[in-house]
Amino acid sequence: MKVIWNDKIVERSEVKIDMEDRGYQFADGIYDVVRAYNGKFFTLNEHVDRLFSSAEKIELVMPFTKDELKQLLSTLMKENGISTGNIYMQVTRGIGIPRNHTYTDPELVPPVFTATTTIVPRDQEKMDQGMSAFIVPDMRWLRCDIKSISLLGNIMAKHEAHKKGGDEAILHRDGIVTECSSSNVWMIKDDTIYTHPDGNLVLPGITKIMLLKVAREAGMLVKEEAFTIEDLKKADEVFASSTTMEAMPIVSIDGNPVGHGQRGAVVEKLQQLYVDAVEKECGQIR
Ligand SMILES: Cc1ncc(COP(=O)(O)O)c(C=O)c1O
Repeated sequence: MKVIWNDKIVERSEVKIDMEDRGYQFADGIYDVVRAYNGKFFTLNEHVDRLFSSAEKIELVMPFTKDELKQLLSTLMKENGISTGNIYMQVTRGIGIPRNHTYTDPELVPPVFTATTTIVPRDQEKMDQGMSAFIVPDMRWLRCDIKSISLLGNIMAKHEAHKKGGDEAILHRDGIVTECSSSNVWMIKDDTIYTHPDGNLVLPGITKIMLLKVAREAGMLVKEEAFTIEDLKKADEVFASSTTMEAMPIVSIDGNPVGHGQRGAVVEKLQQLYVDAVEKECGQIR
């Protein structure tokens, strides 16, 4: 399997990352993941824009232009023969010797870029049946808009949910629902769709942007408004969204059914609208 290492496509075994890399030492880096269907990227521009925006927010100077990166990603996909799968991109601030929290002039130390591909088919059955979630305190930092490789808060939350038998953790800060450990979260009450507004407390999900767009175009009522755990527990439908999960129904929370305990009509409609958008860009997937 080939990977991108800085500006080259090489075999994974050829990659050498220094143990003093700030990504390894401090989780000082950012990442993004983009999905491909039928060998074509979906919302590639949006993902690359978000990666560059995360870089800017941490004063990391990207080692190439957006167009150069898109070209490299396309070549890697073809070389690895990926039809439906994910490409993870990661950039760290490079080698930091001597160890020091502060970093030197970003022009002096080159960042380290890697990208890997994985074949991940769509799990239609899971998207029809939905998943279970548990509510967990949001212990993360206050810049969740940055797609940081420092994911301990997310990992611990998801692991907590997994230990209870759940698929995902729904996070809250003082009773206000923010997002999930690796996805944005939505609820539907009386045919109105709610999700937390962008800002420093949630990742500006690309799937979220797409779903907001297609829902509004279809005349559905959407409000980017925060809601509480109590609202969530009384919701008619709940779902999570991410690049890899698309729009995934959440059919039970803390062991209790959401609505009728099955995928609801609004989520099903949103799933169809999302797939319509994917098919426009990437060809037939259902
Ligand atoms: C914490 C978090 N929120 C939201 C998302 C969804 O973002 P996207 O739709 O861009 O995949 C992710 C995806 O990885 C995530 O990790």
